[in-house]
Amino acid sequence: MNSLAVDTEQKPDTQFPIPAGVFAETVTAVKHYTDRLFSFRMTRPQSFRFRSGEFVMIGLPNAEKPVFRAYSIASPSWDEELEFFSIKVPGGPLTEHLQKIQPGDTVLMRKKPTGTLVLDALKPGKRLFLFSTGTGIAPFASVIRDPETYEKFEQVILTQTCRQLAELEYGRQLVENTKADELMSEFVGDKLLFHASATREGETRGHRVTALIENGKLFEDLGIAPLDPETDRAMICGSMAMLKEVEALLDSRGFVEGANSKPDTYVVERAFVD
Ligand code: A2P
Repeated sequence: MNSLAVDTEQKPDTQFPIPAGVFAETVTAVKHYTDRLFSFRMTRPQSFRFRSGEFVMIGLPNAEKPVFRAYSIASPSWDEELEFFSIKVPGGPLTEHLQKIQPGDTVLMRKKPTGTLVLDALKPGKRLFLFSTGTGIAPFASVIRDPETYEKFEQVILTQTCRQLAELEYGRQLVENTKADELMSEFVGDKLLFHASATREGETRGHRVTALIENGKLFEDLGIAPLDPETDRAMICGSMAMLKEVEALLDSRGFVEGANSKPDTYVVERAFVD
C-alpha cells in the first residue's frame, strides 16, 4: 500500500477541484454516538435558505466526480450553522469517508434544498406527530427547533425507534437541549413530548412504534388521546418498511397523504430509502 493512498483515505480534502454549482463548507464540530451513528455541524453559506425539514445533497471533495447523497438538514432554518445526523455504512461510497471528517475539513453541498417534511405540506391542525426510526429523526430535529412549529400546533409529539439504546442518545440530547434552550424554551414550553424505544434491548425491547400505535401504548405512555385525523397531523421518516406500515396505519384511520402542492393530514419522505 503506498502512503499517498492512505493519506487520501484519511483526509477528505484533496487537490480535487470543487465542482461547479456546489457550496464548499467547513466542518465546525463532529460528534460520534455509536459505531453506526454520528452528527456534524458545518458553516452555512450566507445565501443558503431552506425550510425546516428539507434535505440537501451532501458530498466530499475527494474525487473528480464526488458521490452525493440526500441528507436532511437537522438544524432549524434560523441557525447560523448547518447540522446533519448520519449513519456510517461500512464500505458506503460516501459515509465510509464522511465518518472520518474533522473540524476544518471541507464538505460539499448542492445548492437546492427540497423535501416534503415541511409545515407547508400539512393542513392546519392541533397536534403534530413526528414518527421516526434511526437517522429518520434528522428532519424532525429541524422541525422541533423551529418556532413556527409551536405557533401552528398546540402539541408536538416526536417518536423515535432504534435497535439499541445508545442509538437514542442523539434524540434524547436534542429534546433536552431544545427544552433548555433560552430562545426555544419560550416557544416550546410544555408542548413537546418525546417517546423513544429501543427494539432490541432494555425495557422497550420489541416496542416498534407501529405496535405502540396499534395497542395504544404510545398514547397511554404519554397521557394523550389516540390519533384523530380531525385534529392531528403527522410526518414520517424512516426505513421503507417502517414508512409503509405507518402509512397504512394512518390511512386506515382516515389520514390522507399531502404534498407541497397539495397539503393534507400527513407527509412522508422517501428520498432516503434504499
Ligand atoms: P426491529 O429491531 O424490531 O427490527 P433498521 O435499522 O432495520 O432500519 O431499524 C431501525 C428501527 O426501526 C428498529 O428499531 C426496527 O425494529 C424498526 N423497524 C424496522 N422495521 C419496522 C417497521 N416495519 N415498522 C416499525 N418499525 C420498524
